[in-house]
Amino acid sequence: MFNLPRFIDLGLCNKVGGGQTNNVYELPEMPGVLIKTVRSDIVDPEGFNKRSKGARRLRRLGIYNGVARELNEFLVQLRRRRVPPFNMPFAQPLGFVQTTEGLGYMVERIDDRDGRMAPTMRDLCRAGSFGALHLKALNEFFDRCKREHLVLGDANSRNIVFTDARIGKPEFVCIDGLGEKSVIPIHALSRYFNDRKIERLRQRLLREAEWARTNPAGQRPRRNGRKIFFALTCAGVLTASTAQPTEKATGIEVSQAPVQDEGFIDMAQDAIDYAVSLIAEPAEPLPVLGPPRLHDVSRPRPLPANLTAV
Ligand SMILES: Nc1ncnc2c1ncn2[C@@H]1O[C@H](COP(=O)(O)OP(=O)(O)O)[C@@H](O)[C@H]1O
Ligand SMILES: [Mg+2]
Repeated sequence: MFNLPRFIDLGLCNKVGGGQTNNVYELPEMPGVLIKTVRSDIVDPEGFNKRSKGARRLRRLGIYNGVARELNEFLVQLRRRRVPPFNMPFAQPLGFVQTTEGLGYMVERIDDRDGRMAPTMRDLCRAGSFGALHLKALNEFFDRCKREHLVLGDANSRNIVFTDARIGKPEFVCIDGLGEKSVIPIHALSRYFNDRKIERLRQRLLREAEWARTNPAGQRPRRNGRKIFFALTCAGVLTASTAQPTEKATGIEVSQAPVQDEGFIDMAQDAIDYAVSLIAEPAEPLPVLGPPRLHDVSRPRPLPANLTAV
C-alpha cells in the first residue's frame, strides 16, 4: 500500500514541465499525480516573488497566493456539489507535501490517450493540429465555465490542455490560473461579470487559433501599423499606473508599473494580445475584430465566420 509522503526529495522526481512560475514534477510511485513547486529563482528570502513591490508585499501568502486562489475556487465548486464524484473542467487539487523546493502542490495529471501529458492549446496551435474537434471542445469548456460560474483568473492557451482520455469525450481542462484575480472580486460575486470575462477569453483564444491556422510558422506579415500603435498605446496607458513584473507577449515586451487593480492588467493584456493579433493578421482581415473596448466589453463580438459553426 502506498502511504502519502509528508516530504519529497525532488531529486528523486522527474521534472516534466514548467513555466514562468512553476516547476512541474512527477514521482514514479505516484502515477496520475503532478507535484508543482514555485521556481526558486523567482522567490526572495521572505517568500515573495522578487518582483513584487508595494501593496503586493502585504499579501501574507506571498508566492502561494496563486495556489490559495485555485484552492478557493475548487472549494467553491465542491460546496455546490455534495455528491461525488464529479469531473470538473480543471485539474483537481490533490494535496500538499513539503519538498526540497518548498511547498509541493499535488494535482491531478491530465494525460492524453497514450499516457503522455496532454498538449496545451498553444501546443496544438503551434503544431497546426487545432481543428473542428478542438474548437467544439473549447466552446463546450467555456460554456461549462459560464454555467458553473467558474472563475478563470489566468486562462491563456498555455493553461488549458486537451484530452479525450479523461471523461470519455474530448475536452479542454484548465491546469493553471484558476480563481479570482481581481482585487475587487467582481467575477466571483457576479455571474454577469464572470460571463463577460469568459466571453472575452473565448474570443481571445479563438483569435489565437485562427492566427495559427492562417499563419503557419514563419509567415508573419506586418501590417495595420496604426491599429497596432493604438492597441499598444492603450496597453501603455493602462499599465502606466501599475507595478508588475515584465510581461512578454510573443516578442512584445511591456514593462508594467504599480498595480492598482488587476482588472487593468487584464485589459492591458487584451490590448497587447490584440496588437499581437494584428501583427500576425492574415492578408484577408478577419471580419470582426474591433479594437479592445476599455469601458464597454459587454457587446458580444461575432466570431469569425469560419469559427461560428459549432
Ligand atoms: N495538471 C496538469 N496536467 C498536465 N500537464 C500539466 C498540468 N499542470 C501543468 N502541466 C504542464 O506544465 C506546464 C507548466 O505548468 P503551469 O502550472 O502552467 O506552470 P506556470 O504557472 O509556471 O505556467 C503547463 O503548460 C503544462 O504543459
Ligand atoms: Mg501556466
